[in-house]
Amino acid sequence: MKFVIYYFSGTGNTQWVAENIEKKLKENKHDIILYPIEKMREDVSDILQDSIETSDYIGFAYPLYGANIPRIMRNFIQEFVKTSSAYPDSNAKLFLVNTYAYVNGHGIFKAKKYFKECHLRVHGYVNFRMTNSAPSKKKDRAILGENLPSDMKKKAIVKIENMIRSFEDGRRHIQGIGPHLIMGRLIGRILRDEITSNYKNMHVNMETCSKCMKCVRECPVGSLVYKDEQFIYLETCEACMRCYNRCSKHAISN
Ligand SMILES: Cc1cc2nc3c(=O)[nH]c(=O)nc-3n(C[C@H](O)[C@H](O)[C@H](O)COP(=O)(O)O)c2cc1C
Repeated sequence: MKFVIYYFSGTGNTQWVAENIEKKLKENKHDIILYPIEKMREDVSDILQDSIETSDYIGFAYPLYGANIPRIMRNFIQEFVKTSSAYPDSNAKLFLVNTYAYVNGHGIFKAKKYFKECHLRVHGYVNFRMTNSAPSKKKDRAILGENLPSDMKKKAIVKIENMIRSFEDGRRHIQGIGPHLIMGRLIGRILRDEITSNYKNMHVNMETCSKCMKCVRECPVGSLVYKDEQFIYLETCEACMRCYNRCSKHAISN
């Protein structure tokens, strides 16, 4: 079968999951293409068109931000849904993968909302509990991606294998439904404004900063600008915490 996965990963957890799905699919002799959507800023219509026309399964993988899908992925999904309407004969099956740290607040229901206008059906939904990429009270850096604890990785691999087995058997694979979603939705509502204004709290300490500009270069949404010897976080910042977690001088705070 042919799989395509579009993913966004602020700090590596979702990328780790996407790459391990890729690895398992290849082991099982499937075709798979992974697309990091942060590198797809230009016109994506050709890529979308090809994946809609030729794939058996199309996946979307992302971290949970404030019990919701990150804006960059929401916008991408909108573009996907718009493009898909031109291909009514496509039978591609969609699946959603999300990583989170504490409470999975959106589940399949919220995610499906974004595909309401799409004739392609969501056949899979899996969530992966991982470490928290957001700064803790202790201000420690998070353990992320490849460095995730081994038991967490093992559990994730089992989930990945189960999902692939379901798809190979032609079954739907929907997980993550339960009472915890109520709590998550509540948290999502409370955090909604906080998440969108999170960028205002991002700060670079000029005394510890070495001006290596890694943070500016690696920002997935190009929202950190250095101008007049000052770092400015733009409104488009996802507060994904990549800059925070990767700064070798610990100069960034939130
Ligand atoms: C701005 C922000 C908001 C977050 N909101 C939530 C949340 O609502 N619920 C949750 O369980 N985890 C939340 N997290 C944790 C991330 O979803 C989790 O660490 C995820 O695995 C990070 O994936 P990534 O490394 O691919 O970016 C949040 C992290 C950030 C940076």
